[in-house]
Amino acid sequence: MSAPVTNSEKTAPITIQRGAPGEEPWMETYDVPWRPGMSVLDAIVWVRTHADSSVAFRYSCVSANACKECMVAVNGKTVYACTERLSEDGSEVGPLKNKTLIRDLVTDIVPPKENLRTILAERAKG
Ligand code: FES
Repeated sequence: MSAPVTNSEKTAPITIQRGAPGEEPWMETYDVPWRPGMSVLDAIVWVRTHADSSVAFRYSCVSANACKECMVAVNGKTVYACTERLSEDGSEVGPLKNKTLIRDLVTDIVPPKENLRTILAERAKG
């Protein structure tokens, strides 16, 4: 699926892996307005705002590289979406492979020791 771009800007494709646990993942490609230096996060935000609000992803600090919530795999490499540049030729974005998938690009990145379920289980042990 791809939303129309309403001005004459150059566009770049971004392909996003979609799906939730138990579903067969699928890829969707969107053409986003491209400008030099734009981040993968900029492109995902554009997709959410203009093309498909159902794409799930998470971020917080935006280019401060501090929250680490935007970690995804871009062309198979683990990166921060807020600092990774969108390739003019297109980028393929997926969830982290070594984390539990929640939906689309969102994975459970909370360290096990900080997971509420783990904390409650530890407290129950006494
Ligand atoms: S949004 Fe915080 S590190 Fe990317």
